[in-house]
Amino acid sequence: MDNKLNEKIRNKDFLDKVVSAEEAASWIEDGMTIGMSGFTLFGEPKVFPQALANRGNNEDFKINLYTGASMGPAADQSMAEAGIINLRMPYQGNAVQRKMINNGEISYIDQHLSHTAEQIRQGVLGDIDYAVIEAAAITEEGLIIPTGSVGNSPIFVQEADNVIIELNLTAPKEYEGLHDIYIPKDQGEDRGEIPVHNLHDRIGDIGIKVDPNKVRGIVLSEEADIPSPLFDPNEETQQIADNLLKFFEDEVDSGRLTKELAPLQSGVGSVANAVLSGMKESKFKDIVVASEVLQDGIFDLIDAGVVKFAAGTAFSLSEKRVKSLAEDLTKYQDRIVFRPQEISNNPEVIRRLGIISFNTALEADIYGNVNSTHVSGTRMMNGIGGSGDFARNARIAIFVTQSTAKDGKISTIVPFATHVDHTNHDVDVIVTEQGTADIRGLTPRQAAEEIINNCMHPDYKEQARDYFERAKELGGQTPHILSEAFSWHEALAENGTMKK
Ligand code: COA
Repeated sequence: MDNKLNEKIRNKDFLDKVVSAEEAASWIEDGMTIGMSGFTLFGEPKVFPQALANRGNNEDFKINLYTGASMGPAADQSMAEAGIINLRMPYQGNAVQRKMINNGEISYIDQHLSHTAEQIRQGVLGDIDYAVIEAAAITEEGLIIPTGSVGNSPIFVQEADNVIIELNLTAPKEYEGLHDIYIPKDQGEDRGEIPVHNLHDRIGDIGIKVDPNKVRGIVLSEEADIPSPLFDPNEETQQIADNLLKFFEDEVDSGRLTKELAPLQSGVGSVANAVLSGMKESKFKDIVVASEVLQDGIFDLIDAGVVKFAAGTAFSLSEKRVKSLAEDLTKYQDRIVFRPQEISNNPEVIRRLGIISFNTALEADIYGNVNSTHVSGTRMMNGIGGSGDFARNARIAIFVTQSTAKDGKISTIVPFATHVDHTNHDVDVIVTEQGTADIRGLTPRQAAEEIINNCMHPDYKEQARDYFERAKELGGQTPHILSEAFSWHEALAENGTMKK
């Protein structure tokens, strides 16, 4: 253990700081705000949040929990179940916590993932009492080497009054060198540009600078990274992927893109996986991926010569890839880089690089407004994540969705989106298994024709057309019958189906 510890903690100022998770958890007081590392289940502390949840099962206190994005069971489930989360932000994806948010038991602020760091810097989100950061090592210079995500960790460490490092003794040493930590100056005259011109250019440090005096304790962990489910494509997700790839091919044929496409951002989940695996057989070559999360498929695409470089802020990997991580990190070390989420999702960088984004919608309306977050306009699903950071600033903003949900009882294309995360100004292309609507350069009425004709499920086309034709009789740039705009959702609530 001592040898291992000396390998992992290479700066002697940190060596005498090791404490138990229980002791570190005992330092947290009612009302404190914790900024925790972690993004899509990767790179998060595991034993500290579990110890805090255990304490919460016997004691009455609440904390505010800020993270990079969604967390695994210790933080987002055990702590929620223990009743110790007052406020959660900026993103989550846990079913138990979701229910508590929708019941009003947990306050939730859903935020563009590039905004959190800026608001912390501006002082809008209050003080960060503790940063709790999973680390693979602490270097001779005292840099914290993160594990499988960077997320908001640099800003948490910079701004927090105290830092707790959860040192993961099983984290591959190959994590060292993966990260590129750059923290922008305050907004204002002297910030200058965010100097990412080519994705592979390194602009920062390999780890997070920390003042050793702020590090109150180091907790040891041997918990492995938490795998994400690997979604095998089904007929519909495969068809969406095929339609999207056909759209890219048409863009190449029309001369608007080359075979290298443009830096590509993909959301996570089933469709994203199907697209990435479809790309293996495609004619695209030497693509760079400029995403938030890198999934399994990225390694295969590098092997196939389709992807030459990938940048993100976190991994989201299946069990198989979690097991081969050390090997993969060695093999792909000069092909992958992780930056803070305020850099991977930075509007300036996205616009400069001309990123093509594709993310999944919960629902879209006939004019192209997209709802990513609220089921039937009220119940939070997960959060907007980075979809808005990318869509607003992308060269081409694409949203994908299956045309129906819940065995056809829900049409995901509706007259009026019940909550709008991405207005039609931020949406260029909508793809379902039925087809593709390219609404760039179209008026709302023209867009509606494209979306109804190309993207809607045949079971709902007739009733959408009926609505659109009657709305047009009332006139308007974006015609609606306000008394009926949400009638499909009302029918769903009353009869269990949107079908009329
Ligand atoms: N109304 C109600 N429920 C709907 C629905 C709708 N319009 N559309 C989908 N659903 C349900 C599905 O039935 C499914 O339910 P289940 O979990 O009970 O099976 C669930 O929502 C998830 O849908 P699925 O089709 O499996 O898609 P997904 O796993 O890819 O998730 C989002 C889709 C929109 C929830 C998810 O992509 C998300 O949270 N996006 C916002 C954040 C984001 O875009 N991040 C990427 C940025 S980098």
